[in-house]
Parts: sequence; structure tokens; C-alpha cells
Amino acid sequence: MISVDNLTVRFGPSTAVDDVSFTVAEGESFGLVGESGSGKSTILRTMVGLNRHWTGKITINGQDARTTRQRDLARTVQMVFQDPYGSLHPRYTIGQQIAEPMRINKLPDPFGRTGELLELIGLDPSFQFRFPHELSGGQRQRVAIARALSLNPRILLLDEPTSALDVSIQAEILNLLNRLRRELGLTFVIVSHDLAVVSYMCERLMVMRNAKTVETLTREQLRSGDLADAYSRELVAAS
Ligand SMILES: Nc1ncnc2c1ncn2[C@@H]1O[C@H](COP(=O)(O)OP(=O)(O)OP(=O)(O)O)[C@@H](O)[C@H]1O
Ligand SMILES: [Mg+2]
Repeated sequence: MISVDNLTVRFGPSTAVDDVSFTVAEGESFGLVGESGSGKSTILRTMVGLNRHWTGKITINGQDARTTRQRDLARTVQMVFQDPYGSLHPRYTIGQQIAEPMRINKLPDPFGRTGELLELIGLDPSFQFRFPHELSGGQRQRVAIARALSLNPRILLLDEPTSALDVSIQAEILNLLNRLRRELGLTFVIVSHDLAVVSYMCERLMVMRNAKTVETLTREQLRSGDLADAYSRELVAAS
């Protein structure tokens, strides 16, 4: 479903992502972990067309990310950000925001589908008339997920999807994401600082440091501590 080959992203003189390659199978959940500034968010942003200057090859569901129009790419891959308050517009209703991608893409019946999406993510359809400040953090992140699903994408890129939330709410959102992955056959790439989250959510993960891949592990290797690299072992020990 996803193939990233020799991706390098530079911002001026600094290299944010240095020759990184990985693949993600359809229906798989793949984790990206590593220290702050190691390039995890940059990889996700590049995959959805938010960075212009990169080299390498990115193929998403058979589409070349370099030559596919961003609007077409958006129907296959959507991103969910860390901060659900920052990613929602304060002056638009929840319903307007979930319907926006459908209106841009001229999908039929955006308002009917908005109600369905709210039910899918566990909120009453009447939430569409509320504003973001009238929701809890967990409810706002559910809305961000509903909006990401509005174009029926095959892939969700989740950048620290629960780290801005209260611990008791984190598990609810993770379980919601797992249910959606199962029911909708989605493919996930999840960035998280929390190895427990990655171990719970992901079949495989890649450890990054200083813009480079350190190693790629299975969940079983992570859980058994069977790690080849000293930095990965440090990361596991620290968590
Ligand atoms: N738009 C940008 N312009 C210039 N530099 C950038 C830009 N975006 C990211 N960077 C730099 O690229 C590097 C990688 O950043 P990135 O946000 O991908 O790290 P990260 O692994 O997601 O970190 P964190 O865990 O803190 O979110 C950092 O040094 C950052 O300062
Ligand atoms: Mg980041």
C-alpha cells in the first residue's frame, strides 16, 4: 500500500530525513519512533504532499506521490495531527468541518454523510451543530478522525494522535482507531513517542535517529527486547 524509497528531505542546509526507505502492506499498522527532531513528522507530511523539496520515490496505493495531484492523493491518504484543537477551525461548526473535504471533492450528500461519520466515531449526530470549544479533547480528536475519513481514504497517517490527551482518554481513542482499521480495512502509519502505544497498535515499527533509520522491528522483537541496535535498546529501556 505504501512504498517509500530513499526519501531525503532537506530544509536549507539541514537534512531532516536522510535516505529513508520502508514499505507498509495493505491493512498493516506501521509505527515510527525516535527522538524529537529525528524526522518522523516530516516523513508523514511529505507523504501527503505538504513538503515540496524532497528526493526519492514515494508510491501510495500504486500512485506516484510526486506526479499525483494533491487532491487525488487526498482521497487515498489522510493525516490526523497531534493537537485536535489546533487542527479544527474555532469558528466553523463540527458539521461544516467534516463536510468540507466532501464539498471540495463534490461528493454527494455531505451533510447526510457527516451524521453517519459522527456515529461511526461514536458521537451523536447532533454534535454537527456544535463548535470545537464545546467539545472535550477526546471528542475533538474523534471529530478530526471523522474528517480524515470523510473521503473514504485507504490510509491514515497519525502523528502522535493521543499524546495531547488525558491518559484515560488515550485508550479510548486507540481502541476506536483499531476498530476503524478492522472495519474499514485501513492501513496506518503511526508516529508516537510512547513505545507502549506502538506495541499495542503496530505490527512493525521503524526506529529513527538524526534523520536516519536505525532499524526496523516487528512487534514481537520489540516486546521480547530482541533489538540489534544500542540506541533502540536505550529507547526501550527508557520507556
Ligand atoms: N518546515 C520546516 N522548515 C525548516 N525545518 C523544518 C521544517 N519542518 C521540520 N524541520 C526540521 O526538520 C527536523 C525534523 O523535524 P520533524 O518535525 O520531522 O521531527 P519529529 O521527529 O517529528 O520530532 P518530534 O518528535 O519532536 O515531533 C527538525 O530539525 C526540524 O527543525
Ligand atoms: Mg513530530
